Amino acid sequence: MLVESADLSGLAGRVAVVTGGTGVIGRSICQRLARYGVAVAVSGRNLDQLAAVVENIVAIGGRAIAVAADVTDPSAIEHLRDETERQLGTVDFVAAVAGGGGEPVALADLTLERWHATLDLNLTSAFLTLKTFLPALAAQRRGSVVTIASLSGQHIIPQAQTTASSAYAAAKAGLIMLTRHAAREYGPYNVRVNTISPGTVLSDRIAQMPNQVRENLDYAHPLRRIGQPDDVAGAVTYLFSDQAAWMTGSTLSLNGGFAML
Ligand SMILES: NC(=O)c1ccc[n+]([C@@H]2O[C@H](COP(=O)([O-])OP(=O)(O)OC[C@H]3O[C@@H](n4cnc5c(N)ncnc54)[C@H](OP(=O)(O)O)[C@@H]3O)[C@@H](O)[C@H]2O)c1
Repeated sequence: MLVESADLSGLAGRVAVVTGGTGVIGRSICQRLARYGVAVAVSGRNLDQLAAVVENIVAIGGRAIAVAADVTDPSAIEHLRDETERQLGTVDFVAAVAGGGGEPVALADLTLERWHATLDLNLTSAFLTLKTFLPALAAQRRGSVVTIASLSGQHIIPQAQTTASSAYAAAKAGLIMLTRHAAREYGPYNVRVNTISPGTVLSDRIAQMPNQVRENLDYAHPLRRIGQPDDVAGAVTYLFSDQAAWMTGSTLSLNGGFAML
């Protein structure tokens, strides 16, 4: 396999864990890391999808394992850590990607059950992931962790064509502060913790939109397009690399200029 570039130093031979590794964005992150010579523990709940991502990586000559885990379950995340260490060795990088908003609902219609489920998936999951992996990274005095927030957690554009649920936005806003606290606590151990805040990234739902709606959405971005999963993967790879050695506690806005924060 060709290790793509010597510029992204410090990646080849390392070990990464990617939660949400079977999703649109997670798959792209796993594949890109593998192309840079990182061994990847791909995590999610669906065994068939996990096997497919691993198969694709192995097909390009990369190294990957599948570890099923529900990110809202503390013991499952501990299993993810232990299984990765057992099969791939010491973990260097963690991408906490698992999450999602679902269809937006009005506040008055937001049930307490859905509120809790959204916070569990998008905020508590990251808390559990950070809590489980950071002590081991600190012990080896090296590591980089990336969480995936959302533009919805930073900003509201009242005239935007798409909107997020308030529970999702609140969870992602909380995730940004959680990430900063982790960065402050673990910086002295040479462990960096950053968040990426993507705007709209191409998903199956967006791909099915009528052409005119899609064109309007693209046009709303100064770069005249929504994001591709690989745009996020590129940012994760950068944050894991030594190129970002002095970057921690940052929120990297990635939105084609849709909102300049
Ligand atoms: N797409 C966008 O436009 C966009 C924009 C901003 C931020 N984001 C954020 O980016 C991240 C990835 O989004 P995406 O578009 O790639 O979503 P996606 O395609 O729906 O993928 C979601 C991933 O999370 C996993 N997951 C869901 N619930 C889980 C659970 N309880 N335990 C473990 N894994 C779970 C899914 O796997 P299983 O269901 O098989 O477990 C899947 O791998 C999310 O945090 C999302 O909020 C997305």
